Amino acid sequence: MNHKEKMQRIGFIGLGLMGNPMALRLLEAGYPLRIWNRTRGKGRDLIERGAVWKETPKELAADSDVVITMVTDSEASEKVSCGEDGVLSGASSGLILIDMSSIEPAVSRSIAQRAEERGVTMLDAPVTGNPAVAAQGKLGIMVGGSKSAFKRCLAVFEKMGVKIVYAGESGSGTTLKLLNNLILGVVIMACGEAIVLASKSGIHPEKLIEITSVGGARTGAMETRGPRMIQRDFTPHFSTNNMYKDLTNVITLLPDVAIVDDVDHKLSP
Ligand SMILES: NC(=O)c1ccc[n+]([C@@H]2O[C@H](COP(=O)([O-])OP(=O)(O)OC[C@H]3O[C@@H](n4cnc5c(N)ncnc54)[C@H](OP(=O)(O)O)[C@@H]3O)[C@@H](O)[C@H]2O)c1
Repeated sequence: MNHKEKMQRIGFIGLGLMGNPMALRLLEAGYPLRIWNRTRGKGRDLIERGAVWKETPKELAADSDVVITMVTDSEASEKVSCGEDGVLSGASSGLILIDMSSIEPAVSRSIAQRAEERGVTMLDAPVTGNPAVAAQGKLGIMVGGSKSAFKRCLAVFEKMGVKIVYAGESGSGTTLKLLNNLILGVVIMACGEAIVLASKSGIHPEKLIEITSVGGARTGAMETRGPRMIQRDFTPHFSTNNMYKDLTNVITLLPDVAIVDDVDHKLSP
């Protein structure tokens, strides 16, 4: 960003495991930050560091140039963006709404449509990574929606991520995210099963991590999650509920690409 350019006022909604460190990155980069979260206590540290608390998403939107949402699922995104006292009810024409939650692409497109009717441009921009990666500003970010709005927000994305991919029209970011998590879900399960099988075969699972660190079976899932599985550290970094949500949402993509009959057949017992 040109230093003479005024930094956009950013409103951040959803201060959970991911939202908190992402909002902190923006605050530390010097963006004026307004925050709202359903559970107020989660904003305490950010307020102490200079973020301004707003009572509703509506109030937050009225005082922001860009609003970022990072909430659990489609229902939560709908609520904070389109519900009573939601972002759209307080937005002025020209606001950019960036939904970074992992939600159903059809819901992304529907929110974008309603946003457009109010003169608001919406980008769907979910992320890959985890809370520690978010704290380092090293997320992967995939963006769907207007390319010119994407370019206007690139500096904001660059404060949170290292790999920023413009995916295409509205809903393309959330579609790409589902495909990413389809691979991740399968690989995590394979790693878990292989670790159990290694133990039961009398091989220390660390040997499995060691050998898969080179060669075609190398995977980030084993590198990051393997050691935690061995230590039986199941502290949530990404909740099982959220992975279940994403894998369920993958199925919603299928009718759109006209392979529903085939999948119905394969899913039958
Ligand atoms: N964790 C990861 O490693 C990871 C990685 C990539 C992508 N993601 C995705 O990022 C998103 C956020 O995940 P997270 O791990 O940060 O989850 P989280 O810690 O459970 O946080 C969820 C956030 O959504 C808010 N929320 C949920 N339902 C709401 C509702 N009905 N109305 C208003 N706010 C609501 C929560 O508010 P409260 O604080 O009041 O509960 C909280 O701020 C999800 O879509 C997830 O799939 C997560």
